Amino acid sequence: MKESFCFGGDYNPEQWISHKDTFEDDIRCFHRLGVNTVTLNVFSWAFLEPEEGKYDFSFLSSVIDRMGKEGISVILATPSGAKPSWLAAKYPEVLRVTDDRRRMLFGERHNHCYTSPVYMEKTRLIDEHLSEVFGHNDTVIAWHISNEYGGECHCPLCQEAFRNWLRQRYGSIEELNKRWNNAFWSHIYNSFDDIESPSPIGENKNPSLILDWKRFVTYQTVDFMNAEIKAVRKFSDLPVTTNMMYDYTGLDYSKFADNLDFISWDNYPAWGTGFGGDNVLVAADNALEHDYFRALKDKPFFLMESCPSATNWQPYSHLKRPGVLEAASLEAVAHGSDSVLFFQMRNSYAGYEKFHGALIDNSGRETRVMKEAGELSRKLMLLRLVRGTEIKAEVALINDRESRWAMEGSAGPRNAGLHYRDNLRRIYLGLRSAGVDVDVIDSSHSFDAYKLIVVPMLYMFKDGVADRLRKFTADGGTIVVTHWSGVADECDAVYPGLSPHSLTDVLGLYREELDALADGVCNRAVPVAGNELGFRSGYSCSVLAEIAELTSAEPMMVYGDDFYKGRPAVAVNRYENGRAYYIASMFEEDFYCDFFNSIIPACGIEPIVQGLPRGVIASRRGKYIFIQNFSSDAIRLSDSLSDKRKILIGSSDTLPAYGTIVFAE
Ligand code: GAL
Repeated sequence: MKESFCFGGDYNPEQWISHKDTFEDDIRCFHRLGVNTVTLNVFSWAFLEPEEGKYDFSFLSSVIDRMGKEGISVILATPSGAKPSWLAAKYPEVLRVTDDRRRMLFGERHNHCYTSPVYMEKTRLIDEHLSEVFGHNDTVIAWHISNEYGGECHCPLCQEAFRNWLRQRYGSIEELNKRWNNAFWSHIYNSFDDIESPSPIGENKNPSLILDWKRFVTYQTVDFMNAEIKAVRKFSDLPVTTNMMYDYTGLDYSKFADNLDFISWDNYPAWGTGFGGDNVLVAADNALEHDYFRALKDKPFFLMESCPSATNWQPYSHLKRPGVLEAASLEAVAHGSDSVLFFQMRNSYAGYEKFHGALIDNSGRETRVMKEAGELSRKLMLLRLVRGTEIKAEVALINDRESRWAMEGSAGPRNAGLHYRDNLRRIYLGLRSAGVDVDVIDSSHSFDAYKLIVVPMLYMFKDGVADRLRKFTADGGTIVVTHWSGVADECDAVYPGLSPHSLTDVLGLYREELDALADGVCNRAVPVAGNELGFRSGYSCSVLAEIAELTSAEPMMVYGDDFYKGRPAVAVNRYENGRAYYIASMFEEDFYCDFFNSIIPACGIEPIVQGLPRGVIASRRGKYIFIQNFSSDAIRLSDSLSDKRKILIGSSDTLPAYGTIVFAE
């Protein structure tokens, strides 16, 4: 891989194969912009294999050769994200079937069956050919396996594979009936052969079936990805990755990580229009996602795609305001990315994405976007020593896909929305305001590196999770557990007895009831006099309000309204050498800032910087400290920050809006 940050992005010059001048113009622009890496071949199958079994890699070869001569590296994609039309026409089994059992027509992309032996075989053949021809080419630095795996297929082949997967998981149909509680509504299956995937024309209300189907879809997609990895590995040992998507709930990415050499993801935040135009929330949400992808392998990752200006599939093709391109790109770096890559290098001249932002537009001018990108690439050169450095967070925030599937797949407690992501983001903002790095982890991730683990709405306690949290606390760690945690097991069956399951003694309380509040309705949390965190003012809380009975925990705040006025809203319990905090509802943002600023020092964690204003995020990669300002106001930096340290980029006294300063400690 490269010594400096990879800078460049997706490049599909087969679209202008007959326009030699355009290609030459691209090369000139690449040099002007400092581009050192392009991703080739995403969606190029029809071009590489125009007829079944007839491969033509001559254009690809010429592009790779030319990139090599220009000193530009290539990330080479396998083309399985979009199939050629002959494949669909000759083998209709490769076309996906929707949940209402309709077979799709040829078109678009990402719409093939991951079970189909034909699709797997044709993919294997082209991947192996690519590996044989380019797997040892010095210009190629990595394999980009397919593109944004996603979606699901309900064809007969998938049904059979799903049944076999269930057989393996449960052993007998009696066991499956018991774990899913199929006595309910007379849904007992007599044989695995009777089971169909969830469908609007069939079973769509059995949460255990829906949950296992989602697990199966992940399993089948990973299986397909592994087959592609095996194919490229036949002649090549270059590192492999696949590009993942923002908060994509169709797959459990934690199951992909072991098979990849590095993680990469595609980042398209709606700067300026998302979250009601509040870019502080956009930045926090984005940082949370970077911290999730980094923690999948606890290693630097790749920002594989991002948009240089306006993203054409979003509700508004809103231009990134001056400075936002740099701030967003450096945010990825600050959170562990070793690349800044864009979709796309040059605009398509026609087609669905012709109005999608690109580094080079079709006017041939040096645009504002190009100037900003050129400046960014110069800054990345100044930061090159940061590349490859790791982030060692002492705080973990659990964001478990399977638990969320189960929780959001249940009828109740709030079908109008549980606000899971909103709750997660508020907590994340609070942690970041306390100046600490955060790993966003699956509940199966090791807890060893952490001093504080936050467990928000962890509805499903998978096997062993409660015991691991207990041991973590007993050994001196701090946990923060919120409402609607420890409810169900891995089959989405409610645990018998008191809850949060198996943690009631650690938390010193048990859940009695859970109230769902209508949109716009709030309760209040009011401080208990003399509470140990020094809370003096109240906060509003909303969405869900849990009512707990304390056994040994001490209340720090109580509800101020409704029939549960006076019942605990925030509590703390000492458990052996550690502490367990409990938060009973979703609070307003300020609460989490005050709460985490209070508890972090007592957890034995030294903040990177203390008392950060809203919108300012600090992170540490190795000995390098990043401070970024996502608010619209300039902030003054304290003298202690700038004194002794070496500044790589930015100015030491003020941090303008969307500014970044990087120090070496
Ligand atoms: C990504 C995809 C790219 C491109 C981009 C546009 O999801 O991987 O191929 O379509 O979106 O924003």
